[in-house]
Amino acid sequence: MDGASLLGMAKKYGTPLLVTSEKRIVENCRILRSEFIKYYDNTSFKYAVKTNSNPKLISVIANEGFGADASSVAEISFARYAGVKNSNILFSPNYASVSELKYALDRNIAINFDDIGQFQSLSKYGMPDVVSFRLNPGFGRGEFPGIVTAGPGAKFGMPSDKMSRAYKMAKDGGVKRFGMHMMAGSNVLDPEYFAAITARILDAAGKISKSIGIDFEFIDIGGGLGVPYRPNEKPLDIERTARLVTKVFKEKCGEYGLGEPALMMEPGRYIIADTTVLLGTVNHVKRYSRTFIGTDVGMNILLRPALYNAYHEVAIANRMDSKNLEKASVTGEICENTDMIAKDRMLPRAEGGDIIAVFNSGAYVYGMSSQYNSRPRPAEVLIRSCGKDKLIRRRETTLDLFSTIV
Ligand code: LLP
Repeated sequence: MDGASLLGMAKKYGTPLLVTSEKRIVENCRILRSEFIKYYDNTSFKYAVKTNSNPKLISVIANEGFGADASSVAEISFARYAGVKNSNILFSPNYASVSELKYALDRNIAINFDDIGQFQSLSKYGMPDVVSFRLNPGFGRGEFPGIVTAGPGAKFGMPSDKMSRAYKMAKDGGVKRFGMHMMAGSNVLDPEYFAAITARILDAAGKISKSIGIDFEFIDIGGGLGVPYRPNEKPLDIERTARLVTKVFKEKCGEYGLGEPALMMEPGRYIIADTTVLLGTVNHVKRYSRTFIGTDVGMNILLRPALYNAYHEVAIANRMDSKNLEKASVTGEICENTDMIAKDRMLPRAEGGDIIAVFNSGAYVYGMSSQYNSRPRPAEVLIRSCGKDKLIRRRETTLDLFSTIV
């Protein structure tokens, strides 16, 4: 990776280990930013911290001009620690407690309210400067049903016909600055879809602006930009996505007289997924009617295959050129039969001591990991742009598992 040997990293730091390329993060940020700015220079990016909340990585992203989208108080803290200013943080929590909302209010951090009720319960403590509500645009899309976050069954946001009451209440309460938010699903590779949901939110904003007489400072179309996980999958055409989204954005702003609000986006996966490789060690291989490659990387570290049936490409890092293949499943040390990070793949014939590499492990991996079966969480290393490696999170120990026991 960027001149560093991943096998060398496994040896130096041990496994399981997440190794991230700073260079790739920077490239991803620049591609996304330049494509959108090219068509609409009032585009603004807030990195979705939940995707990977290591503050050392957030600060690389922040240096590329990204703010942060936080879903909890701790995520706000990570963003702050990484150098993101309060004015560049958006708080988009879900069913958050009043005390969390108040935390953001007290720091003048803009809130994307998930519901009118959340706004009402906070209003007795004061009025935020900027108020934004989350729209459920009526449909969404995602790679798996579990990551579709809009449509009739979704727990997020408000239907468009309930939005105007919310904005009216905020306006009557003295609020003068407004935004509107949406997040309709994750890991989508179809540019047309992004244009379609952008049209939906602008239709909602346009009607509300007219009927209530308010201006929108920003329209936030959320995240969702996908990356390919399977070898033959085509990447999202980001140039086309930017062109289509900004075209409909400008057209609708013109149609409804919305002026030139910021086009806000909250990408997570697109920025960080393909920057990171997860390394593990093969402990033991079992060959009966099926072959199981037993490693120290299981659902405790990479939950996505067990939770969504997600695919991650896996390689045996020290046998990349081997032609001696067999059909095998890669499993971890966890006492669950869903603990399989890859099923029935053609892989080089593995042996104990081999190193596995799991690709696209930058997004929703460490953040969704657990200590199940009392397994400490892995360490994280950054390969800096200069080619040097740096530990950015130490490995947990058994003592860490004891640390909360009183
Ligand atoms: N903004 C909000 C309010 C979100 O809830 C999310 C992700 C994002 C932005 C970033 O979305 P992205 O650009 O990464 O698609 N755990 C699942 C993904 C769930 C996404 C939840 N929200 C997975 O492992 O695929």
